[in-house]
Amino acid sequence: MIEGRGTATGDPLPASAATRLLAASAAEGGDVRSIAPDELIARVERSGLRGRGGAGYPLAKKLAAVRAAVPASGREPLVVVNAYDADPDSPLSQTLIERTLLLVAKGAMIAAVAVGAREAIIYMHPRAEAARRALEKELGMIEGSLGGVLISIAVGPGGFMGGEESALMNLLESKRAMARQRPPYPAENGVQARPTLIASAETVAWLPQIVARGARADAKLVSVTGAVARPGVYEVPLGTTLGGIVDEAGGATGELKGLHVGGPTGGILAAVRADVKLDFDTLKAAGTHMGSAQVRAIPAGVCIVNEAARLFAYLAKENCAICVPCRVGTKRVQGILESAYSGLGRESDLAWLDELGTHMERFSLCGFGITAPSILRTTMREFADEYRAHIVERRCPTNTCSPVRSRRYETMTQP
Ligand SMILES: Cc1cc2nc3c(=O)[nH]c(=O)nc-3n(C[C@H](O)[C@H](O)[C@H](O)COP(=O)(O)O)c2cc1C
Ligand code: SF4
Repeated sequence: MIEGRGTATGDPLPASAATRLLAASAAEGGDVRSIAPDELIARVERSGLRGRGGAGYPLAKKLAAVRAAVPASGREPLVVVNAYDADPDSPLSQTLIERTLLLVAKGAMIAAVAVGAREAIIYMHPRAEAARRALEKELGMIEGSLGGVLISIAVGPGGFMGGEESALMNLLESKRAMARQRPPYPAENGVQARPTLIASAETVAWLPQIVARGARADAKLVSVTGAVARPGVYEVPLGTTLGGIVDEAGGATGELKGLHVGGPTGGILAAVRADVKLDFDTLKAAGTHMGSAQVRAIPAGVCIVNEAARLFAYLAKENCAICVPCRVGTKRVQGILESAYSGLGRESDLAWLDELGTHMERFSLCGFGITAPSILRTTMREFADEYRAHIVERRCPTNTCSPVRSRRYETMTQP
């Protein structure tokens, strides 16, 4: 947990008319085995379903890739449902399982039928114990088998990297939660070299209604946290503005400074950008990303440089340390930002931060390090005055920073 962050209540509130997933029924989807796998995949393609785990990759393409990889691989395909909720403040999978229990399992079964797998694993975070027990009980009642697919539950290690798909594959092979080089992608060479479909719980939960009645996947679960009246998990139409999402959660509790979108590696937009729409491409164009779909309302009195330092301290602790750009980059950015708000900044720090961000984006091995610089990019762009005040004028405009360093963070390689 990142200290001091607003937490979702875990008590999902009724959303607007857009509620499509939280109200869905696992009974939908009927006898999936009577539908040819190619037709199943075609229906998913028509629904426009993009992966809800953060990157928005079309599910139909993944299903087709796993299916195509099976003959050459000679191994049994596998489905892994990522219900891990790496971001502690965005318990979307947990909410889905608590609210609809078998919907995720039914989605996993449909995905398994589409790729020709006989086995699916639902991978959860240790903190979601109650949801896991409830699901285990329900699966026990059907002897773990749904539509002829054996469904089991695996529990990850805790920690942010446990949700990244290649680290997750390592964990399922009893290895440490470190990322793997890709290619090969999981579709060709996944868990125990089996063609593996890895899809988020929210993604597969769409499948019953897509298969049954051609639903369009046009809503998204979000976790609204921070300075809002009713923090919690909501379902909103894709394309809802960030301001609309804050309103859905009862509105801001005071003047806002920024909107932090996408969880720990997500960018922070100035509050005046509340008209930015929540969809995969618009968020990317705005410099952030869907990520964990957390929308955090940051109140006016918060220091953004301090906030960015705090996020990088978390990322420096949580990265898997296997690649240098991220392991060293997160630590350096943390050190530079801490120096800046301790009154030890130098103007050249701005160029140094920029350069470190570029290295991380270009050379990191996984999405963690590739996306983390969005915190820097957005805050340096949208709150440039705050950076200059700390670094050049050596003052905090919100008067909230206390020094944490007595000496500057320096290295041999800084500009
Ligand atoms: C650090 C990190 C943490 C992640 N955590 C999760 C997670 O908790 N749940 C999830 O579904 N995807 C998570 N992802 C994304 C997965 O790597 C993967 O892309 C996703 O599970 C694929 O499912 P989708 O295609 O349905 O989005 C994470 C990625 C990164 C880089
Ligand atoms: S980018 Fe970070 S989290 Fe990803 S492999 Fe490299 S060190 Fe690990």
